[in-house]
Amino acid sequence: MVKRDVYTHGHQPAAVNQHAKRTAATSAAFCRDVISSTSQILDVGCGPASISIGLAEWADQGFVTAIDLGEQILETANETIRNAGISNITVEQASVYELPYEDQSFDVTYAHQVLQHLADPVLAITEMARVTKSGGYIAVRDADYYTMSCSPESETIDEWRRIYRLVARHNGAEPDAGRHLLGWFHQAGIHSVRCTASAGVYATKEERENWGLSWADRCLTTGFSEQAIEYGYASRSDLEALAEGWREWAANPDGYFQFINGEAVAQV
Ligand SMILES: C[S@@+](CC[C@H](N)C(=O)[O-])C[C@H]1O[C@@H](n2cnc3c(N)ncnc32)[C@H](O)[C@@H]1O
Repeated sequence: MVKRDVYTHGHQPAAVNQHAKRTAATSAAFCRDVISSTSQILDVGCGPASISIGLAEWADQGFVTAIDLGEQILETANETIRNAGISNITVEQASVYELPYEDQSFDVTYAHQVLQHLADPVLAITEMARVTKSGGYIAVRDADYYTMSCSPESETIDEWRRIYRLVARHNGAEPDAGRHLLGWFHQAGIHSVRCTASAGVYATKEERENWGLSWADRCLTTGFSEQAIEYGYASRSDLEALAEGWREWAANPDGYFQFINGEAVAQV
């Protein structure tokens, strides 16, 4: 039986459309130096696969295997790939906890914003290491929700962050994953780890709308909002107030948002 955690965001359009704006350039630059044109890459928890197609372009004589758990998100991933017209990539349904691949199959095993959703990130890293070739790399990047902050300061957005972290922890996951990556690799017995961090910043009108309006929707229409109510952390009217706070922030030309992503590239 495949272990299945509760996925805090859910795969509703408001979350998936926001994730689909990510690219390899924005989300895999930290491990660009370990990807060659012939790399065999496993993209774990690929979501809509907007990053996976960029990885496949970088490894244009290699191959990308993109996996995710959800059936619906795999359809979206396949559509992204069809639209990109890229052939050195395939999408498969699998869990990071039980990867259906032989030992030492991949040069690079990559997971972007995935470990933060797992109840057992150390088991996930151990399994990613198993399928990575000796001398190959595991590359992971995760946000640290504690660092999410904005100007003008907003009690409502602070409240959103508080509730989001409560919901993620209720699911057994670690919303501040970025800062824990090094320790998790050590617990998995992997000690050759290069850690970096990069900031996410939303400061233009387009960026504010991408982040702020998407979170306004996500507070009302996604797995996060359903779970916040189910677990008793927020009522529907609390979530409506959070959504309104996000809309106000997104409409403010001074609106600025920042957070840290932790990044780790480990050699196995
Ligand atoms: C925040 S999304 C990130 C998607 C993509 N990597 C990106 O950055 O745009 C996390 C993804 O991990 C997937 N996921 C969660 N648990 C998983 C598991 N045990 N095995 C594989 N994928 C999983 C979810 O279904 C979701 O699509």
